[in-house]
Amino acid sequence: MGLNKENILLVDDDIHILELIQRHLQSLNYHTYKAVSVIEAIEILKDKSIDLLITDLKMPGVDGLELVKYVSEHYPDIPKLVVTGYPSIDGALEAMKSGVMDYLTKPFTKEELRKAVIKSFKLKPKKKLLKDPLKRDEAVSYGEMIGKSEAIKKVTDVIERVKNNKATVFITGESGTGKELVARSIHYMGKFARAPFIAVNCGAIPENLLEAELFGYTKGAFTGANDNRNGFFQAANNGTLFLDEIGNASLATQLRLLRVLQEKEVTRVGSQKVEKVDVRVIAATNIDLKELINKGKFREDLYYRLTVVQIHVPPLRERIEDVSLLTEKFLFKYGVEYKDRLIKISPEALQVLERYSWPGNIRELENVIQRAVIMCDKEIEIKDLPEHIKYQIDFPKEDRLFTLKEIEKKHILKVLAATNNNKSQAAKILQIDRKTLSEKLK
Ligand SMILES: Nc1ncnc2c1ncn2[C@@H]1O[C@H](COP(=O)(O)OP(=O)(O)OP(=O)(O)O)[C@@H](O)[C@H]1O
Ligand SMILES: [Mg+2]
Repeated sequence: MGLNKENILLVDDDIHILELIQRHLQSLNYHTYKAVSVIEAIEILKDKSIDLLITDLKMPGVDGLELVKYVSEHYPDIPKLVVTGYPSIDGALEAMKSGVMDYLTKPFTKEELRKAVIKSFKLKPKKKLLKDPLKRDEAVSYGEMIGKSEAIKKVTDVIERVKNNKATVFITGESGTGKELVARSIHYMGKFARAPFIAVNCGAIPENLLEAELFGYTKGAFTGANDNRNGFFQAANNGTLFLDEIGNASLATQLRLLRVLQEKEVTRVGSQKVEKVDVRVIAATNIDLKELINKGKFREDLYYRLTVVQIHVPPLRERIEDVSLLTEKFLFKYGVEYKDRLIKISPEALQVLERYSWPGNIRELENVIQRAVIMCDKEIEIKDLPEHIKYQIDFPKEDRLFTLKEIEKKHILKVLAATNNNKSQAAKILQIDRKTLSEKLK
C-alpha cells in the first residue's frame, strides 16, 4: 500500500470510538486529527488543512449535523463521512441533503471504514485548502485574529516579521480595535510563546505603585514592603511584557522604562543592585502620544525607543469588509455559549451591520452580536439589532454639502432598507403617514 498523505479530522464525543477509528486509519497510513466536540473540530479546521471529515451525528451540545452544514458552507471542498450509532432514516436523509456524501453505521469493520473513506475521497475535487496567513486575496485566520481587509493583512504581515525577535513594538488604534489581541498574537505565534506574556494596564495601577509593580522592590523600601518582591519585568523574563495605556505612566516611571529599554537591566525600588532582564516590550495606546510630548507629559526619547516597530490597528469602519467574518466568529462563539447551536444572520441584518460606523469597533460588534444571539430564535434579523444601529444616519463622507431633499431621500431609502421595505413600518419610524411616504417615493 502506498503512503497516504491525507489529513482526516475525526469528531466523536466518545473517546474510545475516536481512538479506534484513529488506529484503523493510521494503520491505513492516513494522518488524523481528533476532536471530541464540534467546537474543537472547528478550531482544528481553522488551523489545519483537512481533506476529509469523519463525524458522529449525535453529540451533546452542537451536534454533528450542524458541523456538516458548517463545513459544507465554509469548506465546500472537504468531503464528509458521517458515522452514526443511531441509523434513523431521518437523520441520515437530512445528512445526505446537507451534502454528506456517505455514512457508516456503527459498529463497522476496518474494511468497511476503509472502503467508505476511499469512496469519499473519490467523490471530492482534488484541492487542498491553503492556510497560509500571508496569502493575498484570501481571508486571514491568524491565531485568534481574522479578517480579509488589506488592513488586517498588513497587520499580520508585521506580526510575522516581529514575532521571532525581541524588537520593541508599539501598537496604536482606537478603543476596541484589537490592540491587545495583536500583542498576544505577536507573543503566542512566535518562538517565545512558551515564556510568559504579562499584560500591565499602566492606567489601572496607582501612579505611586507603578514603579514597584514594574521593577519589583526590596524589603523595607516603603511602608508595607514586608518582603522582596519581583516586578512585572522580572516575571516576564525571556517573554513579553505588554504595557497597555502607556500614555498614563508618570514621567518618573517613563525615565526608568527608558533605562530598562536601553540597558536591559532593572533596579528594584529600594535597591541599588541592577538585574539583567531579557524582555520584549510591547506598548499600546489609544491616545496621541505626540500631543502628550508637546504638552511635556511624555518623554520624546522614550517615544522613539518604544516606536522601533509601529503597528496601527485601523478602526472597523475603515475595514468594513471584515464585518461579515467577525460577525460569523461571534455568532459561532455566542451561539454555542447561549443556544447550544449555530445561529445565523439574515443578509439584510448583515447589511445593516456593514453600514454602521462602529465607534466602539470590534468590541462593540461583539456586544451587539452577543445580545442579538440572546434575543433571536434561529437567525438574527434586523429587529434583533439595537435601534441606534438600525437607524443610524451616516453623514456623507464627500466634501459636498447635500440639500435637504437629498438627505431626505437618502434617509427614506435607509429606513426602508432597515425595515425590509416594509412601508407601514418605515412610515411609522419616519412619523409620516403611509400615503405621504408613497408620494415621496414616486
Ligand atoms: N481581528 C480580530 N479578529 C477576531 N477578534 C478580534 C479581532 N480584533 C479584535 N478582536 C476581539 O475584539 C475584542 C477587543 O479587542 P482588544 O481587547 O484587543 O482591543 P483593544 O484595542 O485592546 O481595546 P482597548 O483600547 O479598549 O483596550 C476582543 O474580544 C478581541 O478578541
Ligand atoms: Mg486593550
